[in-house]
Amino acid sequence: MSILSKHKKIETNVTLLMVLSFLVVTIGGIVQIAPLFYLENTIEDVEGMRPYSPLELAGREIYIREGCYVCHSQMIRPMRDEVERYGHYSLAAESQYDHPFQWGSKRTGPDLARVGGRYSDDWHIDHLISPQSVVPESVMPKYGYLLDRKVKPEMVRDLMATHRMVGVPYTEEMIEFAAADVRTQIDPWGDTDDFLARYPKAQVRNFDGANGVSEMDALVAYLQMLGTLVDFSTFTPDASR
Ligand code: HEC
Repeated sequence: MSILSKHKKIETNVTLLMVLSFLVVTIGGIVQIAPLFYLENTIEDVEGMRPYSPLELAGREIYIREGCYVCHSQMIRPMRDEVERYGHYSLAAESQYDHPFQWGSKRTGPDLARVGGRYSDDWHIDHLISPQSVVPESVMPKYGYLLDRKVKPEMVRDLMATHRMVGVPYTEEMIEFAAADVRTQIDPWGDTDDFLARYPKAQVRNFDGANGVSEMDALVAYLQMLGTLVDFSTFTPDASR
């Protein structure tokens, strides 16, 4: 019996065909999916990426609470039109410390993955207070009340501890200084050496210009950091991975 006539047996017996197809699909599926559970294999480490500073993390939490992701994505696809509009396509490592990730699934507004540094703090604050004051046709809601709400430093510390539980490498030191670091980041006259050693490239300034740490400070600190951690003038993808 030639090999082809053996195959005929499979083709003419529907039960055998289904059982064997199922087996093949199962093996194929496992081979594709199993390696993804070992995240170290799938995310290429990229220089510059670090866990968010306490203030940035608080801002990210406000971003999620306010549902900004309903209208904004943070994932630049490697297509020409996107790269020309938003900059370098997003790397997996850039959402490495995001729990949950903020890729989004709808763009009522523009992608925000690289919005950091594109506008001044004042622009962001004017825009968040009243988007229509800077972009008349905007359908974005107003978020002025963030100026009146204070960030609770203890909450930020707990938030960092929670992120550590799901795998973000916050150290004991980072968590111990969380509350102090929230204040350090908005105090341009303070001693920032230790803070910047913990969070390189963190931007230190009083974002909303008012006393105290408002939710506006946190949100703008987060927005101004987005896309600024990786230096794309020196980044080269590792094709061997
Ligand atoms: C109902 C949809 C909607 C929601 C919710 C929303 N936005 Fe927007 N956003 C827009 C639209 C539309 C634009 C473009 C017009 C404009 O600039 O206002 C925009 C623009 C922006 C821009 C300027 C981006 C650029 O590259 O020009 C930023 C920054 C921004 N939004 C941040 C936020 C933040 C932060 C939140 C949550 C606090 C938020 N948005 C919530 C719709 C939304």
